[in-house]
Amino acid sequence: MAGKKRKDDKFKKNILCIGGGYVGGSTMAVIAHKCPHYKVTVVDINHNRINQWNSDMLPIYEPGLDDIVQTTRGKNLFFSADIERGIKEADIIFVSVNTPTKTFGTGAGMAADLQYWEKTARQIRDASDSNKIIVDKGTLPVKTALAMERILTATNNDVHFDVISNPEFLAEGTAISDLIDPDRVLIGSRETPDGIHARNEIVGIYKNWVPEERIITSDIWSSELSKLTANAFLAQRISSINAISALCEKTDANVNEIAHAIGLDKRIGDKFLSASVGFGGSCFQKDILNLVYLCRYYGLNEVADYWESVVRINDYQKERFIFNMLLTMFNTLVDKKICLFGFAFKANTGDTRESPAIYIAKRLIEEKAELVISDPQALENAKMDLGGMDGRIQYVEDPYEAAAGCDAIAVMTEWDMYTNLHYEKIYQSMSKPAFIFDGRNILNHKMLFEIGFNVFPIGKPKLSHFRER
Ligand code: UDX
Repeated sequence: MAGKKRKDDKFKKNILCIGGGYVGGSTMAVIAHKCPHYKVTVVDINHNRINQWNSDMLPIYEPGLDDIVQTTRGKNLFFSADIERGIKEADIIFVSVNTPTKTFGTGAGMAADLQYWEKTARQIRDASDSNKIIVDKGTLPVKTALAMERILTATNNDVHFDVISNPEFLAEGTAISDLIDPDRVLIGSRETPDGIHARNEIVGIYKNWVPEERIITSDIWSSELSKLTANAFLAQRISSINAISALCEKTDANVNEIAHAIGLDKRIGDKFLSASVGFGGSCFQKDILNLVYLCRYYGLNEVADYWESVVRINDYQKERFIFNMLLTMFNTLVDKKICLFGFAFKANTGDTRESPAIYIAKRLIEEKAELVISDPQALENAKMDLGGMDGRIQYVEDPYEAAAGCDAIAVMTEWDMYTNLHYEKIYQSMSKPAFIFDGRNILNHKMLFEIGFNVFPIGKPKLSHFRER
């Protein structure tokens, strides 16, 4: 057994996480908080990100994260740019590097881009001089653990690696509470004596705070596929209710009433039934496309088509929103000033990855509208997402200032603050007729209509002051 590892005797185990993004950063902060006897280190190739983790302005906004980092940083939680040293010192390495959708070559637009992940695997192999457990914490296509094993064992040193899959189910905005009180923790391994031993080591970490009955173990492939399936099912619920919202708008039914009525059926449940302008986020689309790619690879074209339709309905929902705006605002958006309330892909995060607001903003610019974008956390990301279109876009954090002089407001993100604004005052400041397109169904539509707005919710009857023909 190789045993050259430098060990800090103060701690029972050294845990390393490669990748200091949402998942890596939040998960390690909670492990450090719940396991003071472990030394937890987060490394990242992005030095700037590490500096931010070591500063008062953390690189991500996540409720509860600041407090945990403040109490653990420098005690048993460390952020460092020295990846090689981190690898050498670690007993357990979580790999949480980004695996975006491929933008080139075979599988472009669908398969996961594994370049960062593969470089990391090689780096672990080359820097390791003692046995390690490698935990795959990202969202990776099924059978990546196998590829990881092959890379790690491709040289003949005497270091032994066990590869574990421990998919992350946390959602942004609730990451800390999801980690502290998870519905379940899933740990997959090879079902060999070594694999099971390594799996038990990882169970041992979570046992520090998660009740044992919520820690489930499985073979490694089922664990990997569970992650893709969970996200595909969640996204499918949103696409299903969004598909019904289109029908509601034609028939004057109310999608909220429908969601309420079906959600009371225990077999269906009431979560993830909010109709919206579309789902976003770094996981749903990427994971479904991965699933689709996997099905096509195995020749399961019908299965691939089935899951792909979840993404197609999501695209349709975004385009339908634009079409509605266009139709309602007299078939032209040229030089109209549209204010977007929210740019993040959901409330309580500054993250804009795959946010429906990106698509909506780009389409509005295509229609030659002018945009004023407002968001309490996501303006910096919005500027990057819409880089190059600066001439026609203003970024204004204050919603009152942002809406002043605009023809329409389009709600993109369900931030609580938008429900409590003084809409009478906003109406007075806007160009008339004034429109509100509520892409999240969070506002009081009746009240807005009474103030004078023409109101267009999702999947609910419109409230318009124009006389129908
Ligand atoms: C998701 C999964 O929930 C999580 O388990 C997984 O680990 C990562 O992907 P996240 O992307 O952070 O988490 O956000 P989530 O809360 O799931 O929302 C995804 C998108 O769906 C958001 O744009 C959200 O606004 C939208 N959504 C959600 C709806 O439009 N309607 C709903 O009813 C619920």
